[in-house]
Amino acid sequence: MKTEALKDKILSRKTFAIISHPDAGKTTLTEQLLLFGGVIRNAGTVKGKKSGKFATSDWMEIEKQRGISVTSSVMQFQYKNRHINILDTPGHQDFSEDTYRTLTAVDSAVMVIDSTKGIEDQTIKLFQVCRKRGIPIFTFMNKMDRIGKDPLELLAELEEVLGIESYPMNWPIGMGKDFLGVYDRYYNRIEQVRETGENRYLALDENGHAPDGANITSSPLYSTCIEEVQLLSEAGNEFSIEKIQNGTLTPVFFGSGLTNFGVQTFLDTYVELAPSPQPRHSNEGFMEPTTTPFSGFIFKIQANMNPAHRDRIAFLRICSGQFERGMSVNIARTGKPVKLAQSTQFMADDRHTVDEAVAGDIIGLYDPGIYQIGDTLVEGKDLFQYDRLPTFTPDLFMKVTAKNVMKQKQFQKGLSQLVQEGAVQLYRSLMTEEYILGAVGQLQFEVFEHRMRGEYNVDTVMQSMGSKIPRWVEDDSVDESLSSSRSLLVRDRYDKKVFLFENDFALRWFEEKNPSVKLYNPMEV
Ligand code: G4P
Repeated sequence: MKTEALKDKILSRKTFAIISHPDAGKTTLTEQLLLFGGVIRNAGTVKGKKSGKFATSDWMEIEKQRGISVTSSVMQFQYKNRHINILDTPGHQDFSEDTYRTLTAVDSAVMVIDSTKGIEDQTIKLFQVCRKRGIPIFTFMNKMDRIGKDPLELLAELEEVLGIESYPMNWPIGMGKDFLGVYDRYYNRIEQVRETGENRYLALDENGHAPDGANITSSPLYSTCIEEVQLLSEAGNEFSIEKIQNGTLTPVFFGSGLTNFGVQTFLDTYVELAPSPQPRHSNEGFMEPTTTPFSGFIFKIQANMNPAHRDRIAFLRICSGQFERGMSVNIARTGKPVKLAQSTQFMADDRHTVDEAVAGDIIGLYDPGIYQIGDTLVEGKDLFQYDRLPTFTPDLFMKVTAKNVMKQKQFQKGLSQLVQEGAVQLYRSLMTEEYILGAVGQLQFEVFEHRMRGEYNVDTVMQSMGSKIPRWVEDDSVDESLSSSRSLLVRDRYDKKVFLFENDFALRWFEEKNPSVKLYNPMEV
């Protein structure tokens, strides 16, 4: 492909993930976006988890049992000459480290908040990962068709709970049954709730006034809205594209995914303001997406997609250049060449072979067991490695042993491979040498147990230790006598010492008693 054409193609990419707490409306909003993109024709296609319309995935037995649709891991569509890639961030019981890792492969995030509930736990955790990477975050305040929290209170929560400045792109006129629409500050118009498409938008004059005779202006809700908009203009944050792009200010859109109100305006603005593929940092400095030859990194490995072949698919985020099926690249970690002959792209409920893709895109590579999470693939001799993926702090822990002591060898092999693949984290108790698994979601343990049996023929005994607060120790000489059942000292797989605290109280008590022991949480560094 000619350089200019390739550059245009790369710059047309917008790759993002939707972050939210379960039930905030992520699936509903995704469906509306896919409808605008013409990828699906009916609502309910993505949402088969509940409606049963979705063909059950054949990728993994455990997923079949639980009805998780991994095929929707990456969705793509074209919109206004842009190529949109949406990466799924599984929530509910399928929340896992993969959910976090997915956020390392996007250039921006859309945060969906249920306006009746405000900011919830899972949103906070996912937000922190995005925040650490400094990626732009676009907020969709959902469910305005229901009576929710006061909009000003919601904005205050963004600043107080998440610590991010906000700029409301529009402002609601009423809510619930009385939701009349929004005052659109960005496009200087009113977007009205209408059954038909007719007269949905009312352009405002340069002073922000509605045209004479517009019905909506006689409503007291409109007057309240105008007062609040005035307040925002005087006391609120200013719109700043720089702040949006460095992730310190989030543009906020009020709307309703279910009634499809405000979604198209959101999408139109998103494609305009969201960044195209960004340079990524490596041991050789920042790599430019448009001028560096093909490179990418693996952020997720999905095992046993086809149980008959025991194959795996490695998800690669292309960071620079162009992928062509059959090309030879090098795995930077090993320096070994690999031919990328089998590659897949994903589309709503389907996957198909991909012949060409560019920076910003996600492709699935057939993995005979050669890749590790975080691996960099590079075309050409100048090998470099993208920064290691961050460690995510687990909060659930299990002791694990092989049921049959005669199977120690297979147990060790399975354990080390699954840990390397990133399925779970592994710790060892300092005193007893017991194996302890750590995860951010229960599903990770179930997958581990299932795969140990299916792939390594080992039954395991798993004993829950419940949730713990792990804190890494800066100084390795820390005394083992500080280990107790409430602050268990373990080593992680890189041999770093970690305390597993029983709860917040135990952590604080320990910190008070041992001020010289410096503890840290890798997700907050
Ligand atoms: P999730 O993927 O974030 O978990 O949320 P999902 O889209 O599945 O939505 C969760 C529930 O919230 C669904 O209702 C959905 O219909 C509802 N919902 C989503 N957006 C809106 C909105 O803008 N307004 C209102 N009023 N409701 C919304 P459910 O009853 O749990 O599921 P279903 O029976 O409708 O499928």
